[in-house]
Amino acid sequence: MRTRLEPYRIKAVEPLPITTRPQRERALEEASWNLFRLPARLVTIDLLTDSGMVAMSARQWGALMQADESYAGAESFYRFEAAVRGITGFPEVIPAHQGRAAERLLFEALVQPGDLVPGNTHFDTTRANLERLGARPVDLPTPAALVAALDHPFKGNLDLPGLEELLAASAPGSRPPLVLVTITSNSTGGQPVSLDNLRQTRRLCDRYGVRLFLDAARFAENAWLVHERESEVKGWTPAAIARAFFDLADGCLMSAKKDGLVNIGGFVALRDPVLAERIRAGMVVGEGFPTYGGLAGRDLEAMAIGLQEALEPSYLEDRIGQVRSLARQLDAAGVPIVRPPGGHAVYLDSRAFAPHLDPLDLPGQAIACELYLHAGVRTTEVGQLMRGRPGAEGRERPVPVDLVRLAIPRRVYTCCHLDYVAEAVTEVFGAPERLQPLDIVEQPAALRHFRARLRPRRLPAAAQRCEAQVSCPSE
Ligand code: F0G
Repeated sequence: MRTRLEPYRIKAVEPLPITTRPQRERALEEASWNLFRLPARLVTIDLLTDSGMVAMSARQWGALMQADESYAGAESFYRFEAAVRGITGFPEVIPAHQGRAAERLLFEALVQPGDLVPGNTHFDTTRANLERLGARPVDLPTPAALVAALDHPFKGNLDLPGLEELLAASAPGSRPPLVLVTITSNSTGGQPVSLDNLRQTRRLCDRYGVRLFLDAARFAENAWLVHERESEVKGWTPAAIARAFFDLADGCLMSAKKDGLVNIGGFVALRDPVLAERIRAGMVVGEGFPTYGGLAGRDLEAMAIGLQEALEPSYLEDRIGQVRSLARQLDAAGVPIVRPPGGHAVYLDSRAFAPHLDPLDLPGQAIACELYLHAGVRTTEVGQLMRGRPGAEGRERPVPVDLVRLAIPRRVYTCCHLDYVAEAVTEVFGAPERLQPLDIVEQPAALRHFRARLRPRRLPAAAQRCEAQVSCPSE
């Protein structure tokens, strides 16, 4: 049989917002052409992120009622701690309300102004948290990661020669405080890191006496892709593969809103008890007491179960299967996508999709906006808007790659929903003349894509003429 059977059935449903094109046009105008500013009730299929948009299982919902909401030493904390220890093997477990809080807690305890922090490619909140402390994040993706159309099994890998050069150039007293490897590498397309690459990264870290941490937001998806692609682990369970990754690291940061299968939650887990105490001492004033870390007891219960469910082979096979089936449909229609598709998302190659637009016309944002206008599908630009910076003379430089991410929330949409998305993207691809250059009219200094306001640069010639006059003669 060819049909992929989703390994769950549906117990609670939520109506899908259906809108008209005029409603969407008005909404996008009011949102200043920034999809983060749209009210979700006007979005039909929301592929903005796979983060926190999770359907919890009946087991997780059941566990919520068992939660212990005590301020200190709640039973829920101990159940959560045992689950994280069981999966990662790290003895020190510190909850945090989400991934970026875990980043802040670890970096405040470990990073000094002027430090270099290398990684395969830091996620944008990671980068911002490092820059906030005066440190310099350094991205060292494997060169294959920069070629969207190139099929390579481990485009998440860290560039080992680049890391060796960086570590060799640092004096013993000013070595990086840590190397951070993100599994899967979200910023290069949800691409996996191989066990071999991590092992060699570990060797380099050992040679130079540098800590190695994982950003484990999508550790289970990474394990599944490694299971498919790396012969060394043939026949291992996803849990065993994930454990082999954790065994090579000194600790991890986790946004449980991804592979923790929860709507909110995160943690830092590590081996070093001294560093762990430094983090705990620093967190009470901002994040919360170390046994709840900005979360309710029920959130800890849901995480404890979600982390285990995310490693179930039937879940992972379906999850990655959904992403792949969307990619296959787009590929068959000739739509340019990043190859191979990653673990949590399909990425469109904006410059190949809209070759008539200049990289500074924000082609990715133009595609994302048109997808919304055409079909109510919300996606994210990961390109000039997200990564570009205003230049000294006012003109910015094009970023190396410009993508649109179609992130698939976990257990939320059916195959039919994704078929609709494939049709929508294919239709937008078939009408490139609708993609309009956009200008940024207002932007904050950091993480500008969340709040920036934009405007289409040129209205169609007739409309421009109409705008120039008080009233349009043809109306
Ligand atoms: N690390 C990675 C690799 C991420 O993808 C994210 C979030 C974070 C850290 C931060 O975690 O959101 O819980 O604070 N990524 C989301 C995304 C937002 O859409 O890719 P958080």
